[in-house]
Order: sequence, then structure tokens, then C-alpha cells
Amino acid sequence: MFGALRSPRNIVFGSGQRASLPGYAAALGHKVLLVTDQRMAGEETFRILESGLREAGLSVSTFAGVEAELPAECLVAGVAAASDFGAEVIVGIGGGSCIDAAKVIALIAAHGGAISDYYGEFKVPGPVLPLVALPTTAGTGSEVTPVAVVADPHRAVKVGIASPHLIPVTAICDPDLTLTCPPVLTAMSGADALVHAIEAFTTAPRSALTNITLEHVFVGKNAMTDSFAMAAIGNIGRSLAAAVKNGGDVRARADVMLGAMQAGLAFGTAGTSVCHAVQYPVGALTHTAHGLGVALMLPYALAFNREHALADIATIGRILEFATKDDDDAAAADRCIVGIADLLNTIAVPRTLAEIGVKSDDLPWIADQALAANRLIKNNPRPVDRAGMDLLIAAAFAGDLAMLTTNTKHAKAI
Ligand SMILES: NC(=O)c1ccc[n+]([C@@H]2O[C@H](COP(=O)([O-])OP(=O)(O)OC[C@H]3O[C@@H](n4cnc5c(N)ncnc54)[C@H](O)[C@@H]3O)[C@@H](O)[C@H]2O)c1
Ligand SMILES: [Fe+2]
Repeated sequence: MFGALRSPRNIVFGSGQRASLPGYAAALGHKVLLVTDQRMAGEETFRILESGLREAGLSVSTFAGVEAELPAECLVAGVAAASDFGAEVIVGIGGGSCIDAAKVIALIAAHGGAISDYYGEFKVPGPVLPLVALPTTAGTGSEVTPVAVVADPHRAVKVGIASPHLIPVTAICDPDLTLTCPPVLTAMSGADALVHAIEAFTTAPRSALTNITLEHVFVGKNAMTDSFAMAAIGNIGRSLAAAVKNGGDVRARADVMLGAMQAGLAFGTAGTSVCHAVQYPVGALTHTAHGLGVALMLPYALAFNREHALADIATIGRILEFATKDDDDAAAADRCIVGIADLLNTIAVPRTLAEIGVKSDDLPWIADQALAANRLIKNNPRPVDRAGMDLLIAAAFAGDLAMLTTNTKHAKAI
């Protein structure tokens, strides 16, 4: 058995826990830079958090210039804000974009250089400024993960910086902060979290080579990430549709936020795979949300991987209660794929790449770019060659799950 987990020093979860921010920030330094976007900066909740920090005797400055997709200019402005202020602690408040921005600002403020110097795995040379993260979406899990995803003006597709040094010291997950998320945001960010949990649970296990955790940020499915992935799948599956339907359902909001954080713990060590590899070029082409793109791909990825991760997909089907313990693995896996496709349909995730504006001429470029994301591709339980990637993308383009099945009986079943 092999297990590994990368995680924050502190994770607090629950309604009202945002009030613990001053205590956690004060433990890390005196000058606190809040990193957020215009929307959040205009909220009463934000003003209360800001004044709470001041009342605790801390010196506070706010950078509210985070923009969707994290263009380099907004990050450069954030770094300047941190250095002008002499920030000692960086607090990211907002969706995944704001938390990822906080990570990059904490990195460049500590080590200098260009953002592109740190693309890839293990390029960050040492600790960054201490980070506290307060997510306001239940989705990316960025509050607990070692990754920041940024846009590069010289590249068509978004790129990742992955280093354990980017993990926030403290994650404060207060589901009350997600109550203002509109249904589409709730659906797409929650679906991102479900994909994180499922991809982490189905990544190819690696042989537990000594030093694997020192040489790779993402080390594949293992005993510790599995327990968080399973908990996440249960929490998100139970309540995502309810949170989308009724945004004021505090119980559902809490389940989805807890699940999103647990999914972050799972994929932050295990990694993600083909859904994420395909979303990066699809998102670049269609300007659709990250969560929408990964969720659209999920049923196709599961069908593609069915023979190589049968027991795991069957387990997911049972956790989600699409299958029972009386179903054998083959039946449970098929019910899982159909059940997930239905769940995603209920929360209005588009079913095909064609529906979101991809053209058939785009498919070879999408396949090239997806295959180039080697850190994600190598995690997939079924080895992915060019022909396999073409098939997966063609099926998702056409909305034809049966294209991915290997025998007639199974094709009929799903
Ligand atoms: N670092 C990671 O581990 C990781 C993992 C997955 C995705 N990502 C990245 O995270 C980003 C997506 O993050 P996201 O899905 O959280 O969305 P987001 O941060 O891009 O926010 C989307 C929009 O929702 C608004 N918003 C956020 N919280 C809200 C609330 N409570 N009420 C109303 N509106 C709110 C924002 O202001 C913004 O306009 C992408 O850039 C993606 O690449 C990062
Ligand atoms: Fe994601």
C-alpha cells in the first residue's frame, strides 16, 4: 500500500468560520494584502472581513484587480501592489481565479523573476509569502492544492505552476460565502469539483518508487487520496443538483463546498487526467468556463476508461447510488456512466463539444494540445495515444458514448 497527501497546515470548514481570518492571518505576519476581484470587493461581507483584520490590529491593503482567466497584466499589477505595500501575508478571497492569483503574487513577491520561470512542476525554489485562502465558489479546491493556472500571452492554452510551496498555510472554507453564487456558477464550479474527485479516484496508480513524491507533484491514485476522493464524490453527488436548484439550501451548499475541498485534497496529490487535458484547448477556443469543459468531457472519459478502471468506476456508481451492491462491476460501471451523464444534464452541462461552438476542423488541434499536456495524459488509467485521443474527442463532439465502447452488449447498455 502507498499513500501520500499534500495539504495546508490548517483547514477550517463551516458556516461563519470566515470570522477566524484575523487570527490565522495574525499568526503569519502584520501586513496583510487581500487579493480579490471587483465583485467581491464591493460586497458587504468583504468589508466586514477587511474591518475584522484592522480591528485585530493588522495593517491591511486590498488588491481588487483580479480578472477572469488571470491575464499576466493583472498578476503583474498584483505583484506591484504586494511590493509597494510590503506585504507579509497574502489572503486570496474569491473563486479559483482569485486564489490562484494570490498564489502567483505570493510566489513572485518572494522569488522575483517572470511568471513563466515557474511553469511546470517543482520550479518554485522555496517558500512563498504565507497564504490564506477563502474560497467563494465550491469548485476548484485551489484553497488546498499546490497549483495555480494562468493565461500566458504567448500561448494559446492556459498553463499551470505546480509546487507544494503554493499550498496555502490555511484554508478557511465558509459555505455562507457561496450563497450568492448564481445557478450556472454553482453548477459549473461544482461539476469541476466532481471531475477532480473522479479523475483523482481513477488516475493510474504508480508503483510506489522511493522519492516519487519528491520528483513528482502529482503521484497518482493512492490510499490517502482515495479516501478524500470517495468522500468528495458522496458529498457532491448528494447535493450538487439541490444547490443548483435552490441556492439558499444551506445544507446542500455545505455538502458541495466540503466535497470541493476534499476533491482538492485528492487531486492535489493524485492529479487529474484527460478531462482536464481536453478542457485547456477547448476553453481557449470557446471561452467557456473550466468547469463546463471538464464536466462535458466526464461521461466520455469514463466510457473511454471503462475497461481500464472498471472496479473504480463501479465504486463511484455505488457511492453515487446509481448502482447497488448487488450490481456486478460491469453493470455498476455502466449505471455510473449513464447516471453521471443524467446528473450533468440536470444541471445544464452541455452534452457535446459541437454545442459549445467547437467545429470539426478544430478537432485535430484540440487533440494535439491535449496530448501535449503530458503531466495529465500520463495519469489516465487507459494509455492515450493519438488514435485514442481522436476517438475520445470525436465521441464528445458527436455526443456518441457508444463510439467509445468495446463490445456490442456494452454499447447497448449505455
Ligand atoms: N488551482 C487549482 O487547483 C485549480 C483547479 C481547477 C481550476 N482552477 C482555475 O480556477 C478558475 C475557475 O475558478 P472558479 O470556477 O472558482 O471561478 P472564477 O474564480 O473564475 O469566478 C468566476 C466568476 O464568478 C464570480 N464569483 C465568484 N464567487 C462568487 C460568489 N460567491 N457569488 C457570485 N459570484 C461569484 C467571480 O467574480 C467571477 O466573475 C479557472 O481559472 C481554472 O483554471 C484552478
Ligand atoms: Fe478543474
